[in-house]
Amino acid sequence: MLSLTIDGKKVEAEAGWTLLDTARQYGIEIPTLCYHEAVEPFGACRLCVVELRQGNASRLVASCVYPAEEGLEVHTASEKVNNVRRWILEMLMSECPASQEIKEMAAQYGVETTRFEINDPEQECILCGLCVRACAQVVGANAISTVGRGAQKEIGSPYLVPGDACVACGTCVTVCPTGAMRARFERVRGVPSVVMARSVK
Ligand code: SF4
Ligand code: FES
Repeated sequence: MLSLTIDGKKVEAEAGWTLLDTARQYGIEIPTLCYHEAVEPFGACRLCVVELRQGNASRLVASCVYPAEEGLEVHTASEKVNNVRRWILEMLMSECPASQEIKEMAAQYGVETTRFEINDPEQECILCGLCVRACAQVVGANAISTVGRGAQKEIGSPYLVPGDACVACGTCVTVCPTGAMRARFERVRGVPSVVMARSVK
């Protein structure tokens, strides 16, 4: 077992655990967006940032991908961490201003508006890729991926044409942290809405 501290509390971690795994074992809350325990972590959103301190030095790492190590001093809610989370949430509010889930999470950090430019007021997706990874790793369907480039990049079926690779299981809708997949699901599968409603319950 590895010994470290999180928020001043002595904790133990098994080799191979991440800092997020370790914190959750001890009931220490760290917010996440692109993480789900059923799929490999990817470190896309950085909301799970924590501070590592060693003497006067400190650095920020993404806890969902950073391994627990012997002797680490981890802080999950320091001023530095909360400042970075507020900044990330403000960025996300400009990227996906239509997401109620992001607004609610931002409000928990006192972020009500964004100073960054909003290009698409209807956008809900943060392109975190969690839905794509869940479709591939949990369902094994590989029915969705990122399509397009640059500002046109989005999540969808190949060439944005509904296809049979999607088994209408609704896993992508369930794992999506922003609510964006709710509106995209029918475009991926092309199924009647009554089937979709049943599959995501
Ligand atoms: S649809 Fe949801 S899960 Fe998929 S990339 Fe967008 S925000 Fe992430
Ligand atoms: S939850 Fe760790 S980077 Fe997104």
